[in-house]
Amino acid sequence: MRKPFAAGNWKMNTDSKSSVELAGAIKEGAADIAGNQVDVALIPPFVYIPGVVSAVGGSQVAVGGQDVYFEKEGAFTGEISPAMLKDVGCSYVLCGHSERRHVLGESDEIVNKKLKASITGGLLPILCVGEKIEQREAEQTEQVVKQQLVKGLEGVSEDMAEAVTIAYEPVWAIGTGLTATKEQAQEVHAFIRSELAAIYSQETAENIRIQYGGSVKAANAAELMGQKDIDGVLVGGASLKADEFMGIIKGAF
Ligand code: PGA
Repeated sequence: MRKPFAAGNWKMNTDSKSSVELAGAIKEGAADIAGNQVDVALIPPFVYIPGVVSAVGGSQVAVGGQDVYFEKEGAFTGEISPAMLKDVGCSYVLCGHSERRHVLGESDEIVNKKLKASITGGLLPILCVGEKIEQREAEQTEQVVKQQLVKGLEGVSEDMAEAVTIAYEPVWAIGTGLTATKEQAQEVHAFIRSELAAIYSQETAENIRIQYGGSVKAANAAELMGQKDIDGVLVGGASLKADEFMGIIKGAF
């Protein structure tokens, strides 16, 4: 059984005060949720990670980084290593979020290096994949997602793959208010799982969680997560409001 997993990607939002307040409110809201019902992670901007880690301390709410560099240390100005994320209390990290791919120009090769370095460094990466609107309209969704998966997981052994969560985030649904219908999302999730079975094995494919992301809100989270292959959600905008994010988390069970 795959345990549902709801993660809030705060992107470049909040400040030192509001990040701690938001994390505290989520900790409080999640206090009566049993740890075996759902995994919850908050993914704040790097600089607010320590504050968020202490704000959620002693709870089941985990913390993650929005990005990571693939080298261990050295002359890489502005970058953050997997060890640094672990050091400040992160357990998760996003790899290949669409904004990194399409705004910052990250290639599949870079995403793959980051993913491998994250696993080796003891983090649990969330590999984000998803097509742009023109690719969906040209019926290239499966081709695009397959390439991002295959290249993203290159050199990742079956054992290592157990650490990975996949997030299917159609680019046209991110921050636009347009959500994939549950049928559209389920179709791609089932495709992703069949590709994971082809890369690894049916057993491993059944164990890997696949989140949906793209304009998820409390009003649509439960029906999305009710789909057979949708094991959780990666939430942007709606994770910045404690009540809304709690509503989403509760949609997982
Ligand atoms: P959104 O972002 O929920 O604001 O659409 C999702 C994401 O980018 O992870």
